[in-house]
Amino acid sequence: PDSKLVDPFGRRITYLRLSVTDRCDFRCTYCMSEDMVFAPRAQILTLEELYAVADAFISLGVKRIRVTGGEPLVRKGLPGLLSRLGARKELEDLAITTNGSQLPVLATALRDAGVKRLNISLDSLKRDRFAELTRRDMLHQVVHGIDAAIDAGFSRIKLNSVIQKGRNDDEVLDLVNFAVERGLDISFIEEMPLGNVSSHEREITFCSSEEVRERIEVGHQLVRSSHTTGGPSRYWQVAGTETQVGFISPHSNNFCGSCNRVRVTAEGKLVLCLGHEGALDLKSLMRRYPGDSERLRQALVDALQLKPEKHDFRADEQVQVVRFMSVTGG
Ligand code: GTP
Ligand code: 5AD
Ligand code: SF4
Repeated sequence: PDSKLVDPFGRRITYLRLSVTDRCDFRCTYCMSEDMVFAPRAQILTLEELYAVADAFISLGVKRIRVTGGEPLVRKGLPGLLSRLGARKELEDLAITTNGSQLPVLATALRDAGVKRLNISLDSLKRDRFAELTRRDMLHQVVHGIDAAIDAGFSRIKLNSVIQKGRNDDEVLDLVNFAVERGLDISFIEEMPLGNVSSHEREITFCSSEEVRERIEVGHQLVRSSHTTGGPSRYWQVAGTETQVGFISPHSNNFCGSCNRVRVTAEGKLVLCLGHEGALDLKSLMRRYPGDSERLRQALVDALQLKPEKHDFRADEQVQVVRFMSVTGG
């Protein structure tokens, strides 16, 4: 049956991005400020509440869940929650977006819990630069984590790279080669202006997908591909390889017309669009009416009436959304 979550523009929501923590062991400069303040524990959904939210979405027709953070793997007890979700027959896909730092320890447990796809962030292959971009000297551990994930046998692993001019745009080809060598996919993401991140000038470092593609084509032939994950990425295949290169280009390609997703933050706020502030407080509802799943479902159906038509990110402007990227995990 089709999803019961339909917005005023006729879009059906079949995909949930569920953030399980706002915390992270990195401080990527485009995502967080160095002195980030995190939500107090009591404000974060319990594992039971996270499951109740996911369950409400599944019963309304959501087929795919992507678990995000902050960094989802720093959330204690996550494998248990994933196992419960992984056991749900209605779900066609259970995926995680991670910075990779915990994968050396957790990759196998995630695979055993039923996680199918992993997206792992990787913006640089140079140790010093990685340490500057993430404010943590952890490149070695992340590469080790990527290899642990490969060994654990996920059906698909994709790297995510945010490319910034003068910071890592000279590494585009090296990152593609790294993916090709390991048989992985890779997506290049245009930076989005969320949150008042410090010490970072977005107008100067902005690098378009078009420019990224030109840099790849210096070393590889790219063939437009029909591969899709239902998300904003548009894919090209690296000729002669298994690798799909995705481009997420919010500035040059408004993909909102076919949006299939909403987000829930670790604090239990339903965020209807990444590019807007509007959010509905599901946590208060759940804590006022514990166990009332029908009320929760109805609140979700009603909230969909408020889903904005599209984001309006512009490369040349300062922050339009004060919420930090880390609150929704993208
Ligand atoms: P799959 O397509 O399921 O592989 O994942 P994804 O690429 O959608 O998810 P991922 O968590 O790897 O996010 C990669 C980037 O895409 C992040 O920067 C997200 O913020 C961005 N992104 C994902 N969904 C949306 C969306 O609906 N709107 C916008 N503007 N960006 C999005
Ligand atoms: N713009 C675009 N992508 C971002 N990410 C984090 N902050 C931003 C931003 N401001 C990316 C991370 C990660 C994914 C979840 O979102 O690099 O790969
Ligand atoms: Fe952490 Fe990901 Fe944000 Fe980097 S982009 S600080 S790894 S949540």
